[in-house]
Amino acid sequence: MATIGLFDSGSGGLSVYREIVKLLPREDYIFYADNLYCPYGEKSREFIIDRAREITDFLLEKGADIIVVACNTATAAAIATLREEYPVKFIGMEPAVKPAALGTRTGVIGVLATAGTLHASKYLDTRDRYADGITVVEHVGQGFVELVEAGELDGEHAESVVRQSVQPLVDAGADHIVLGCTHYPFLKETIEKVISELNPGRDIKVVDPAPAAARQLERVIREQGIHVHDTRSSTATPESPRPVNVTLFSSGSRDSLERIFKLI
Ligand code: DGL
Repeated sequence: MATIGLFDSGSGGLSVYREIVKLLPREDYIFYADNLYCPYGEKSREFIIDRAREITDFLLEKGADIIVVACNTATAAAIATLREEYPVKFIGMEPAVKPAALGTRTGVIGVLATAGTLHASKYLDTRDRYADGITVVEHVGQGFVELVEAGELDGEHAESVVRQSVQPLVDAGADHIVLGCTHYPFLKETIEKVISELNPGRDIKVVDPAPAAARQLERVIREQGIHVHDTRSSTATPESPRPVNVTLFSSGSRDSLERIFKLI
């Protein structure tokens, strides 16, 4: 049985965890929310690397066989360093620019992410590689992380916060909006509601990269020969909502983490 460690600046990484447990429902999970230092979006690269090292040490001490950096900002800032310094495998988050660029009919895609992600060379390289000839409109999801940490996922105030960042993408003609921060999928329904109000009748796809990250984790686990339950031959269904065992840790308050955990 594998022990899978995950971390994020807060509860957002649970959007990745919920996709992973659909594929690997019988493993052990350790999830670390660094919510004392949330948000990471405006923090320096050095600060995020230091936090990532400390959390990695913690997860390894708890027995993690593989680590998912369930945070786009931390992936952009720290995954290269982590891969150099630790013998364990790390799976990171990739903003889903490629599927959006392949699927667009208007030739315009939108990306919502933190400032840290949007300025990082990792993101810029991905964009240059996959979105050649496509117009990419980027916007920080201003205030989105705070909404999720406060458990405010819908309602008038959440809609007005979401509208500020989504409107420029819709106005620019985007037909795909990529959620480039793991907190944002918890606001997906509100984002879709705001989009349909701003632009009734136009089909805009909101893309969550978490399912692709989960598939990548499963591939790497099998390549590495890390022993996992074979869900195809076991009685567990892939849709099983809870893994055998998950332990939640946080550097700050547990309230927001447990609130979001109950929703997934
Ligand atoms: N969940 C994070 C991400 O995917 C970080 C958000 C933040 O702390 O600013 O980027």
